[in-house]
Amino acid sequence: MTEPRTLPPFASDNYAPAHPDVLAAVAAANDGYAVAYGDDPWTARLDARVREVFGAGALAFPVLNGTGANVVSLTALSPRWGGVVVSDVAHVNTDENGAPERVGGLKLLACPSVDGRITPDDVARWAGQRDDVHRAHPAVLSLTQSTELGTVYPLEELRTLTHVAHDLGMAVHVDGSRLANAAATLGCSLRALTTDAGVDVVSLGAAKNGGMLGEAVLVLGPDAAPDAASARAREAAAAAVPFLRKATMQLASKTRFVSAQLLALLGEPDDAEPLWHRNAARANAMAARLRAGLEALAGSDGDGVRVTRPTEANAVFATLPRPAADRLRAVARFYDWADGETPDRVEVRLMCAWDTAPGTVDAFVAAAADALA
Ligand SMILES: Cc1ncc(COP(=O)(O)O)c(C=O)c1O
Repeated sequence: MTEPRTLPPFASDNYAPAHPDVLAAVAAANDGYAVAYGDDPWTARLDARVREVFGAGALAFPVLNGTGANVVSLTALSPRWGGVVVSDVAHVNTDENGAPERVGGLKLLACPSVDGRITPDDVARWAGQRDDVHRAHPAVLSLTQSTELGTVYPLEELRTLTHVAHDLGMAVHVDGSRLANAAATLGCSLRALTTDAGVDVVSLGAAKNGGMLGEAVLVLGPDAAPDAASARAREAAAAAVPFLRKATMQLASKTRFVSAQLLALLGEPDDAEPLWHRNAARANAMAARLRAGLEALAGSDGDGVRVTRPTEANAVFATLPRPAADRLRAVARFYDWADGETPDRVEVRLMCAWDTAPGTVDAFVAAAADALA
């Protein structure tokens, strides 16, 4: 019989419980009857709060999960003949079982990436096939922020990317499953990272940020310097998303309970530090602590732990000998990510969550030292 693991998992921030304030908000929304399908007071309040946080004109459409948010967003932005430029490691490309293709009928155009980020040159390269009827017309750029590999697009780089995309007539979508972690790392507002950076539509994550269930599609309002491609994309998305949300089975009858969770995370205007930030900052800090602990286990001749990617949000990637990884897995669950530098090593992904405790991180590092011994 397998011994029960002694530490909480580092497998995914989705394994974490919901934050008690989120649960309290759901309980408070359980207040008698309310109009179904989003015509309720909690969703109206969410709409208003989203405009306060993301800027005038922003629209919020609560959905059931992150894959659904991505499919609804991208389907709203891409014409039937269009393509969606994404990084090769984008969740939409690798981890959604083809939902964008099967449900949305989308064509994904994958770009090589470094540590999960694609560059403006990678985007500009698609210009060549804009007028070729034999190829999908590059219509949307979808960026993940923070990326699947735990990195973050800095604001300046993001602005350049949206600029290049809009110049090519493309709309810009952000898979913001972990948008909060990116904003906490960059020390900026959610608005600075989206509306003000020229992003058109966002899949706003909640589950990985202390939510229980549900996310939202945000169609953003005009930014400081609207351009034609952006204005067209936002207008088309605002008209299409309500219908697509239903057509893709992402409209919850009791939407009020999803809205209540998002409201709890976004907080009140007078909150010194809203819950989204507290949760994300904690997860990021624990990842930094974990990285530092693992770096001390490098060993003398490459036989220890090697951290493989920048730690800019709440994920740490590292390689270690396979037998040591298996011993460590018996202590706390985590996923293998890729092969290591040599056949006897494996790259693992370690995720921290809003409730990861410093003591858990330290105990995991100590267990890693034992596993390597
Ligand atoms: C970057 C990213 N986008 C989207 C999703 C999809 O979320 P869901 O599992 O709720 O469909 C995930 C889930 O892990 C993710 O990591």
